[in-house]
Amino acid sequence: MATFQAPKGTYDLIPPVSVKYLAVREAIAAPLRNSGYGYIETPGFEDVGLFARGVGESTDIVSKEMYAFETKGGDQLALRPEGTASVLRAALEASLHKKGNLPVKLWYSGSYYRYEKPQAGRYRHFSQVGAEAIGAEDPALDAELIILADQAYRSLGLRNFRILLNSLGDKECRPVYREALQSFLSGLDLDEETVRRAEINPLRVLDDKRRDVQKQLVGAPMLRDYLCDACKAYHEEVRALVTAAGVVFEDDEKLVRGLDYYTRTTFEFVHDGLGSQSAVGGGGRYDGLSEMIGGPALPSVGWALGVDRTVLALEAEGVDLDIPASTSVFAVALGEEARRVLFGKVTELRRAGVAADFSYGGKGLKGSMKDANRSGARFTVVAGERDLAEGVVQLKDMESGEQAPVALADLVATVQARLA
Ligand code: HAM
Repeated sequence: MATFQAPKGTYDLIPPVSVKYLAVREAIAAPLRNSGYGYIETPGFEDVGLFARGVGESTDIVSKEMYAFETKGGDQLALRPEGTASVLRAALEASLHKKGNLPVKLWYSGSYYRYEKPQAGRYRHFSQVGAEAIGAEDPALDAELIILADQAYRSLGLRNFRILLNSLGDKECRPVYREALQSFLSGLDLDEETVRRAEINPLRVLDDKRRDVQKQLVGAPMLRDYLCDACKAYHEEVRALVTAAGVVFEDDEKLVRGLDYYTRTTFEFVHDGLGSQSAVGGGGRYDGLSEMIGGPALPSVGWALGVDRTVLALEAEGVDLDIPASTSVFAVALGEEARRVLFGKVTELRRAGVAADFSYGGKGLKGSMKDANRSGARFTVVAGERDLAEGVVQLKDMESGEQAPVALADLVATVQARLA
């Protein structure tokens, strides 16, 4: 019979590598928890219209990459391709913006789905940790998020990443620029799809990676020259605050990002060891999104960092995360009576907060000691009938190799003291 494999563009997280993913999620979450962000979880699927309206009908994410389907009940749903629209939808639905002080600061962690052409670093199922600060127009909030992402990457030991920063203007100045850009693009020799893109979302054309397109873009009007005074002042303040925090960034006037909801501040974190899928994270301000999905005006800013690509970046830099072995004590029982007693001790150790495991499956001493070694435990507890008759177990320190009997009744306290 045929066996099954993980679907194309997906992969499984399996020990021992899976601990790296947990560590990355934790490292990104820690500075957020420490900065007033509350945890939010939303469903893995939403009304397809939420993404069509929020992320944008003309974006690749919505037009090409969404896993959209109709349920038996006739609902049009989509697996979430990103988190921002869902988080804002949930915040509006729960009226969080009416309940307390703004901004409402939220963080999340989960799986996202895009029907992309799979390649290294680009998957159809991937994982993000994200943060959204909803309901305040304050450059310090944009700066806070950039600084926190930098802190998260640095706490993991990453060094070879760069922060790209841009402003996309607002509903006052962007339309003027859009028109100027469109008029410039209409004079170029572009293929049919790009011409269509120039009509729907001309800024995305700037992002086209193809050489022949980039060549023609020389001399294109730049948004920087069209920013209104308010957008300019806002952007300068973000830049000043990030700089004052000692966080280095590069101004990238071509950074547009692939989602339509952005206004003003946009940024991306890129890692130079990852080849073409170099964006390890990205985000920006989305002052109009709430109104786009039927809510009140709620200027907001956020980011999402890709967990998969962050792990790849760590590997590219050769960073070994300092992840301690999960088991502290491994118990090896020789004989039936010892099995019962030691199993009880393992339960006791666990209840006392000591990570403990047990040699299951009735293996002999040799096989069990192999398991003990593999577990990475600091201590092995071995007991046979003779030990039990004397009321002791043998406690072996796997680092020093020393072994000594310990009274059964003192085992938990002894282990706790030696681990402390
Ligand atoms: P995004 O740039 O589409 O932004 O995704 C953020 C990060 O998710 C990327 O930088 C990348 O690391 C990871 N990612 C995206 N697609 C894939 C993929 N196919 N395979 C592996 N990793 C991937 C957003 O999703 C916005 N919601 C960010 C945001 C939050 N903006 C404001 N708030």
